[in-house]
Amino acid sequence: MAYPDTFYITTPIYYVNDVPHIGHAYTSLACDVLARFKRLDGFDVRFLTGTDEHGQKVQHSAKAAGVDTKVFCDSVSDNFRSLSKVMNISNDDFIRTTEDRHIAASQGIWRALVDAGHIYLGTYSGWYSLRDEAFYLEDELTIGPNNEKFAPSGAPVEWIEEPSYFFRLSSWTDPLLDFYSNHPEFILPQSRKNEVVRFVEGGLRDLSISRTSFNWGVPVPGDSEHVMYVWLDALTNYITALGYPDITTDSYRRYWPGLHIVGKDILRFHAVYWPAFLMAAGIEPPKRVYAHGWWTNEGHKISKSLGNVIDPIQLVDMYGIDSVRYFLMREVPFGNDGDFSHGAMITRINGDLANDFGNLAQRVLSMIQRYCDGRVPAHSAFLSADKELLEQAEMLVSEIRPLIDGQQIHQMLILLWRAIAKANQYVDYQAPWNLKSTDPKRMETVLYVLAEAIRHYAILALAVVPDGAARLLDQLAVPAESRCFASLSKDHSLVPDTQLPRPKGVFPRYAVQES
Ligand code: MSP
Repeated sequence: MAYPDTFYITTPIYYVNDVPHIGHAYTSLACDVLARFKRLDGFDVRFLTGTDEHGQKVQHSAKAAGVDTKVFCDSVSDNFRSLSKVMNISNDDFIRTTEDRHIAASQGIWRALVDAGHIYLGTYSGWYSLRDEAFYLEDELTIGPNNEKFAPSGAPVEWIEEPSYFFRLSSWTDPLLDFYSNHPEFILPQSRKNEVVRFVEGGLRDLSISRTSFNWGVPVPGDSEHVMYVWLDALTNYITALGYPDITTDSYRRYWPGLHIVGKDILRFHAVYWPAFLMAAGIEPPKRVYAHGWWTNEGHKISKSLGNVIDPIQLVDMYGIDSVRYFLMREVPFGNDGDFSHGAMITRINGDLANDFGNLAQRVLSMIQRYCDGRVPAHSAFLSADKELLEQAEMLVSEIRPLIDGQQIHQMLILLWRAIAKANQYVDYQAPWNLKSTDPKRMETVLYVLAEAIRHYAILALAVVPDGAARLLDQLAVPAESRCFASLSKDHSLVPDTQLPRPKGVFPRYAVQES
């Protein structure tokens, strides 16, 4: 049975060696916006996030904290769960790689790879970066002033030599290149795809997929000396959550394959290793891997050692959740790197949210309150300016859909705000406050048109600023079942004479404190 209207989206699972920061919040938020949009559009959505708890790095962090590794994982994993709540993330599941269901899935994929003849035992000797949990070739490294070696990410590397199982990645060079060319939008954005293709064209080497020098990982089936390489274990989370190794479950059949949103630093794992593992295990690769860029803080690279890590929870406390969500999604084209600054944040809050959208709604709703007894006004025949505004509002969803299908979240917001700007021009031009005495019937029509346009904008904005948009819809008395894209049509227009509650501003200005 085919499930045409399903949508499966995942965040990377977050390492529990660190406190949640803006990078984590950003990936989760982008997924949340896409998931909410699809739900509003009537799709059957499954949205997964979670924590990546195995590997040497996590074991080290627990040791450094002087805590039992599992106890350490429990506590940091909880921080990520809390971050999801604070960021208003609507995930349907939260996976932890230390859960039994995940051990079963990881061992399941291992067995499938063994059965298909893609795993062999050998010895690994080479460079390993603990911070990246990744193996590097000599020629990928850079040399520091004291002859120390660094990974391309800047992370230190160490030489390791130990028995290891290998995955025959080298035999997947051509199948992967074929796969990329047959699925030209498997990796997006295009510029990142080109980097991956160039890397694979360079030829792939077999990949070490087990370690023996520590034990915090999924035991290799049939060889308890080894634990699975943390990336093989971690990537498998995306199918664990659908029931793998049981591929007959309803969720597996319904949702796999899905869309993975990842940061650019982990694209290679998702766009090279993961589809190779899957194809080798006889499983369909994901639909797409979309790599977003990285944030800097007021022009500087974010790092713990610089002490400039941005705490998303603090941001939310300071600016409010909708403002943070809007800023992160609007400020930077999704896929590009971007810079966080308080100045830019305040400009977006006070300009786009408070002035453009908030003020439009507040003006219109207050006029309805004052001039129409707080009831949705009746309208007379629409003039061409009215029709134009309404038609533009009705068209928006079909213009935005393809943008969201290409993960162009910022473009969606540009379109939506362009429409809001039109509504602001319309209200200034029509000047309903003057019509009140000169032509009250016309005033009612103008206010009706505006309220109806705002209904459209608010329903579309639900994916990005769910709290504020819902409060706007409350003020328009839009019932819960009509808060979806199926209601973006004339058939669900506001009903004249409906009593509306007293309006309250939904997107407040941020007042800069004088110091
Ligand atoms: N555990 C792996 C992912 C395994 S997925 C099977 C991992 N975890 S992470 O916690 O280090 O990173 C998670 C995400 O945060 C990545 O997508 C990464 O790109 C993102 N970010 C970390 N710092 C960031 C910024 N400064 N800016 C934007 N995102 C960045 O990698």
